[in-house]
Amino acid sequence: MDTIEPVELVAGSLRLRPWRPDDIDDVWAALQDPDIRLWNGGGVASHDEAVALLGRRSDWSSGTHASWAVVDGADAVLGSVSVHSIDRDQAGAEIGYWVAPAARGRGVAAVAVDTACRWAFRTPAIDRIELCHAVDNPASGRVAQKAGFRYEGHLRRSYRYGDGVKHDELLWARLSDDPAPPALGLSC
Ligand SMILES: CC(C)(COP(=O)(O)OP(=O)(O)OC[C@H]1O[C@@H](n2cnc3c(N)ncnc32)[C@H](O)[C@@H]1OP(=O)(O)O)[C@@H](O)C(=O)NCCC(=O)NCCS
Repeated sequence: MDTIEPVELVAGSLRLRPWRPDDIDDVWAALQDPDIRLWNGGGVASHDEAVALLGRRSDWSSGTHASWAVVDGADAVLGSVSVHSIDRDQAGAEIGYWVAPAARGRGVAAVAVDTACRWAFRTPAIDRIELCHAVDNPASGRVAQKAGFRYEGHLRRSYRYGDGVKHDELLWARLSDDPAPPALGLSC
């Protein structure tokens, strides 16, 4: 099995660092946000399940994901980004993310997604990263666009989200040789 060594990435004033057990309060708080519960949190109903989720995200040894806490200069957790479903044979992966409500609208997600992609194209030599979001979650589509993903299609009733409903999704992908987006930064 190809393992992945946990790595920290710097993106301007943001850092992407591996999750730690003491991040549990931030993860649990994020999972109380209705939008994160809806679009990311399906299946995590209890604090114990959040602890288990954090444990899985902290352990990169399977070689199938690389998951980071997105933190500011004071190490406060602003969000999450994960390159997951890594398939070495296909050189493919998927990406998922959330940003805590207080940190939204400043470009955190776009910077984090772009930074994680640039790493994934280099280190596990991924060639294609897919990003899916519900049609009803247009902010996520804007993140995809800003982070250099190209729109590829509309998936009908393709994923059951936190509301228990199967939503139509939009599929985006970024290839290793796609033009990188112009330098991204935080708006304030
Ligand atoms: C989606 C999410 C990750 C965006 O995080 P963020 O740090 O605010 O993202 P950014 O600031 O990089 O970009 C957000 C963009 O969406 C735009 N946007 C926000 N709400 C929007 C809406 N309802 N419709 C269209 N665009 C919208 C913003 O204006 C911004 O674009 P701009 O920079 O051109 O102004 C965050 O809102 C979140 O965590 N939502 C809940 C969980 C979630 O949706 N996760 C993704 C699952 S696929």
